[in-house]
Amino acid sequence: MKASKISTIVIVVALCFAAGYGIGRLITSTAEDSEDKKITSIISQMTLEEKCHYVIGTSSRKCESDQELEDILAIKRTVPGVAGTTRPISRLGIPGILLADGPAGLRINPTREGDENTYYCTGFPVGALLASTWDPAAIEKVGEAMGNEVLEYGVDVLLAPGLNIKRNPLCGRNFEYYSEDPLIVGKSAAAMVRGVQSNGVGTSIKHFAANNAEINRLFSDSRVSVKALREIYLKGFEIAVKEAQPWTVMTSYNYLNGPYTSENPELLQTVLRDEWGFKGMVMSDWGGGQHPRLQIAAGNDLIESGKDWQYEDVLAAVKDGSLSEEALDKCVARILKLTMKTPRYNGYEYSSKPDLEAHAAVSREIAGQGVVLLKNEGGVLPLEEGAAVKVYGRNNPYKLYAGGTGSGDVHKTHTIYLDEGLEAAGFTLNDDADIAVINLRRQAGEGTDRHVADDFNLTEAEQGWISEAREAGKKVVVVINSGGVIETASWKDKADAIVMAWMPGQEAGHVIADVLSGKVNPSGCLPETFHESYEAVPAQNFPAMELPEGVNNSFYRESEVQLHEVPNVDYQDYIEGVYVGYRYYTTFNVPVSYPFGYGLSYTTFEMSDYKARISGGTVKASVTVKNTGERAGRKVVQIYLSRPEGCGAPVRELKAYAKTAELAPGESCTVELKFPAADLASFDEASSAWVAEAGDYTLSLCEDSATELAAATVKLGKTYVKKVADVLHTEGDLFIGTYDPEKLL
Ligand code: BGC
Repeated sequence: MKASKISTIVIVVALCFAAGYGIGRLITSTAEDSEDKKITSIISQMTLEEKCHYVIGTSSRKCESDQELEDILAIKRTVPGVAGTTRPISRLGIPGILLADGPAGLRINPTREGDENTYYCTGFPVGALLASTWDPAAIEKVGEAMGNEVLEYGVDVLLAPGLNIKRNPLCGRNFEYYSEDPLIVGKSAAAMVRGVQSNGVGTSIKHFAANNAEINRLFSDSRVSVKALREIYLKGFEIAVKEAQPWTVMTSYNYLNGPYTSENPELLQTVLRDEWGFKGMVMSDWGGGQHPRLQIAAGNDLIESGKDWQYEDVLAAVKDGSLSEEALDKCVARILKLTMKTPRYNGYEYSSKPDLEAHAAVSREIAGQGVVLLKNEGGVLPLEEGAAVKVYGRNNPYKLYAGGTGSGDVHKTHTIYLDEGLEAAGFTLNDDADIAVINLRRQAGEGTDRHVADDFNLTEAEQGWISEAREAGKKVVVVINSGGVIETASWKDKADAIVMAWMPGQEAGHVIADVLSGKVNPSGCLPETFHESYEAVPAQNFPAMELPEGVNNSFYRESEVQLHEVPNVDYQDYIEGVYVGYRYYTTFNVPVSYPFGYGLSYTTFEMSDYKARISGGTVKASVTVKNTGERAGRKVVQIYLSRPEGCGAPVRELKAYAKTAELAPGESCTVELKFPAADLASFDEASSAWVAEAGDYTLSLCEDSATELAAATVKLGKTYVKKVADVLHTEGDLFIGTYDPEKLL
């Protein structure tokens, strides 16, 4: 073909493409324009009272007419057990929409009065386990199944995922959250959001931000340096917003460096909307914040669950001029925009019959991918087929926790216990057995934090079972069924195998048996450190175990004015700065029991030919992974940035990770990873900018955060600087200020 003919074809194709693209954009923007016009028109027809009601959830029952009350009660009756709804405005054709928890699956009432049908939902593995898969595709699959239940049960927005950083292992909600590392947090959350929202329903990423403890959660100030906020506590939210555009964000209960998060325009407008480009709606946590007029002014569009006094406050503020009607209109517009996307507004006819069997299979499959094998001395696992096993545990030794308590709990049809799982896998349960399975079971939930004694640490009885089984000559297999990490350093020598099963969802017993039998070859890795002891944890400024009288859970120290009297109750100073979890342990060479990123397999892998380079603003790395053992398995590849010593940054930070597909024995594959060179930057408080100086950067291929396998150097040609708004400072001299590592050591 002649060159001129080829170029004509190219031009025609390009023009067609450009025209198509143009038309596509035109259609989108016309649709957006007409939606915006519709919203403007609706708002112009709303009375001031209607607008004020609309930004308050329907636990506020103050109504202008009997019909309005009837409409509210009707929407609340639609799906019993949802956490909240928005207010319907029937005269304008606006339905209320339904908002329901939560991170481990949809939470609605399983039964309804006068109705013989049941409405159970699938109990999926908790966030802690999902993050341990190190596999966003697996998390997305769970999200797809979860979102399908949201859609088919007639709910519009799932109040999940929870993505607060695990600053301290005692946080009562750590089971709902993903990791101590913001990259894992952000990637896991983005995957969950994509999965759920692929069903045409919304998510609410929560709790924005720095809600890292439960005690006095409504009245405690998280005082965090701007650097730690930017690099650690906000980063996961930033990734999730930019990569997955969640329909909504839920603000947290706590104060953050002074104001409540839900009352802070710097957080909600400057950072979330202006910098990150968030397009959705912001709602408060249930009962969060104390000044509704400030919440609306800050762009916290919806106040849940809603109280009459909140309505009165917003109304009075507009009337006395302290809140502009324009600000109120913006919030109303964003709730309307969300509403118009929902299945309810668009008349979706839900079945109330999602495929629970198919979802149970997803729950079991993905849970298996997140179980972490911590120890396997002498290859005691997998157990021999049909082996006899004695299970030790508290009360009913076979009992397992599928998930945590509170809003993160799911009404599921069943939880498979250990006996059922082991027997179904062909094992026999027998007190003369050679194998002892020690079931270390821990519950946790919203509203309280965990304790060191008998919770983070083992109970005397638990220590006793391990010793007893060992002395009786049994092989000791410890199974940890907990949403959070526990102490292992003092007893791990006495165990032959240790399996971190987290809270693996409703199929728990099967999930554990799958791993013990070898049906599943473990491939999970720790997304948080197993600390040497509680005392070693860098974030020691955490709600004390001995609380003043009257302060014993999340709601007790109520005060209309912000108190700064009791450290770690009225406020928490995050003096460890960016040195959370492994960032601290690797930088200051502090020993751990099992490092972040750690996880064994029943097979072995070899990694070779590791390379990294920067090209066109992207860091690209590749490595060959070979299964050198005798069983098929999957391997997580972890790449950390190591900065020069003494530059004040953590010596190791996770920058990229990927998990191979299942590799047969002898099989190998090349894993390619990439991330923007801009991610080499750290946050410089003095200039309020992300900065990466031109020069050499070391990217280490690691087995886990403590074990380097190979290193490569990449050269950044030009210094990278990205200025951001200088906001979110601590107020006055309350905060201790700059991080001083000596204080921790
Ligand atoms: C929790 C949220 C939850 C909400 C609605 C609050 O107590 O903190 O995570 O979504 O309740 O149930």
